[in-house]
Amino acid sequence: MMNERILIVEDDADMRELLEEVLFDAGFETVLAANGRFALAHVESEQEQIDLVVTDVQMPELKGDELLGKIRQTRSDAPVIIITAFGSVENAVEMVKKGAYSYLTKPFATKDLLEVVRAALAQSEAARAQVRLRRDIPAANNRIVGASRPMRELLDLIRRAGNSPSNILITGESGTGKELVARAVHDASARSKSQFVAVNCAAIPSELVESELFGHTGQAFTGARTARAGLFETADGGTLFLDEIGDLPLNVQPKLLRVLQEGTIRRVGESREKSVDVRVIAATNRDLEKAVANNEFREDLYWRVNVIHLHVPPLRERAFDIPLLVEHFLAKIAKKQNVIPREIAPEALALLTAYSWRGNVRELENTLERAVALAHGAVLSIEDLPARIREASGQTSAILASAKSKRLTLDQLEQAYILEILSEAGGNKSRAAEILGLDRKTLYRKLDEYRENNPELEITPIN
Ligand SMILES: Nc1ncnc2c1ncn2[C@@H]1O[C@H](COP(=O)(O)OP(=O)(O)OP(=O)(O)O)[C@@H](O)[C@H]1O
Ligand SMILES: [Mg+2]
Repeated sequence: MMNERILIVEDDADMRELLEEVLFDAGFETVLAANGRFALAHVESEQEQIDLVVTDVQMPELKGDELLGKIRQTRSDAPVIIITAFGSVENAVEMVKKGAYSYLTKPFATKDLLEVVRAALAQSEAARAQVRLRRDIPAANNRIVGASRPMRELLDLIRRAGNSPSNILITGESGTGKELVARAVHDASARSKSQFVAVNCAAIPSELVESELFGHTGQAFTGARTARAGLFETADGGTLFLDEIGDLPLNVQPKLLRVLQEGTIRRVGESREKSVDVRVIAATNRDLEKAVANNEFREDLYWRVNVIHLHVPPLRERAFDIPLLVEHFLAKIAKKQNVIPREIAPEALALLTAYSWRGNVRELENTLERAVALAHGAVLSIEDLPARIREASGQTSAILASAKSKRLTLDQLEQAYILEILSEAGGNKSRAAEILGLDRKTLYRKLDEYRENNPELEITPIN
């Protein structure tokens, strides 16, 4: 079972660490936020699933009571516990009336904190059990897995982009999940009740692109016997996903531009215009700016499409997500075959995590499917992985290579590695300590040392 995840919101660093210490030692997962704004981002992120919030009242930016109000406007039903100074109990009582679960006054006993936290969780667990099932069904199909910092930022952008009517350009290498992101934007938008229509511009013969997109009349061209609606009409009220937009023929580009500007289409062979209400999400793994420079892509169309830019980072920049993705895909594969998910040996998982995935998430998924299909035993082992992955482990890793070329000392290498992992863990020290195999006290001590030796050093802000 997963540990419950508690968000600690406190601007005072000592108090924050104390709360973290107590809650972590009691077996909870902790997420830290130094102000209300960061806190809200955590609560709003569906991926994170914050189960409970412990918050200070007096903070710069968003104060505790404003934060409470904002949390209650999100879909989160996480109970909120207020930590307040002795002098402002009235304020806390007011917040309980507005929906906070309870409050504690500083200083408080550890046992009181744990008691109120457990009571709040028990109550919300009962309430949640009823809605969880319903909520998981749609989410599970197109779930974007990822907890690394770049993915959390992307998920946050997706949610915000969903609420806006602007066109979107999604870029990223092949297999990084661009289509998944496009669907997620659609699902997060008010258009989610209408259709999501996907078309691969590279897959349609160039002479048919126009009629595919805009439709045609019965006599439009040889072979067009009956009138047909185009994809823009099909997607009316919804979202049209133009995949590989970089491959859209030059002669069709001005026509697409017109639709985006005027909101009207004209079927091939017809003179009448028809208005459509479609949000366009485009994707490409080509460098569109370069295509613009080479006159292969119209600049005006580029700016029309690229109002909001979502970049999906390659998997090698978020190795932190690989264990999560492995778990996700093993479950997905098992579900398809209606069996219990295969387990994976730690050494095999380590190899997959260290590997530089050129084919990104898709390659990882395929690799696992193949491994499951051909596995020798009940647990996936190194032997079940393709040779290219087994052999890659012998090569010097990127971090070692760069350390060698810079002639780092062992201490410098350790510092670089620790900071890197901490940043990948989004500043979550508990998680970083776990990955590094350190206890948290040791990690804290090392970070303090780094700070002392180099006051300029930027250690990932806690969020
Ligand atoms: N973050 C993720 N979590 C879960 N599954 C993912 C994630 N990213 C990608 N996938 C899965 O990986 C596969 C490839 O993703 P997708 O087709 O969206 O990539 P793409 O960027 O559109 O690739 P291409 O450039 O080749 O068209 C899909 O099966 C998708 O469900
Ligand atoms: Mg794709």
